[in-house]
Amino acid sequence: MKSRIVTIDGPAGSGKSTVSRELARRLGWSFLDTGAMYRALAYAAAEEGQDLGDEKGVAEIAGRQNFEFTPSSEGIKVFLDRRDISKEIRSPEVTASVSRIASSVVLRRLLVEMQRDFAQKAGDMVTEGRDQGSVVFPDADVKFYLDAGVKIRAQRRAAELEASGQRVDIQDVMKAIEKRDLADKSREAAPLVCPEDAIVIDSSNISAEQVTERMLSAVKEII
Ligand code: C5P
Repeated sequence: MKSRIVTIDGPAGSGKSTVSRELARRLGWSFLDTGAMYRALAYAAAEEGQDLGDEKGVAEIAGRQNFEFTPSSEGIKVFLDRRDISKEIRSPEVTASVSRIASSVVLRRLLVEMQRDFAQKAGDMVTEGRDQGSVVFPDADVKFYLDAGVKIRAQRRAAELEASGQRVDIQDVMKAIEKRDLADKSREAAPLVCPEDAIVIDSSNISAEQVTERMLSAVKEII
């Protein structure tokens, strides 16, 4: 039987990671956090002092380094040559620089290939990002677009950062989110869009649990 794919796209802080992980767990399916892939590459390149604007140099690092992505109860665990960099890839420095990687056609092509390879081996899968339903898996069985107001997204992101021990200013977090939204939506290569055939959910006034429940019933109805 053909593997089934559910895609969840949306802007930063819309709750994609939490609900896609939980949806995958409840369905008993694999889970892919593609933002973590962009972040891991940005981190690895910066660690080697690589100029992120030099696509060839970054692509060489992507080909040489060994990245592993393993789901865990606290989120996706990311290993760079067996070193756990799960926390490092969420730092404000990586968050601020990752759009440079994401705007490169060459680097996106590489990561999209890795995502499709992952899907080949993963069996049924829930995948989240910015272009999963629009570009990477246009024939996905169910597509969701998860959105929320910018203020609530900033509050959620700030709470996450605080929980991981980082000191944050809510205004700074909001500005960073707005900047990233603009970069993600206006770039030429696979910009963040809502796929035409996606089910749109606004999570501004509902909990992650309610979003997951809605998604679960939609998936069960369609598949
Ligand atoms: O989802 P997360 O905030 O971890 O994603 C980090 C960044 O990676 C996004 O701001 C976006 O620029 C990029 N990204 C992307 N395409 C994806 C996933 C993430 O461009 N499929």
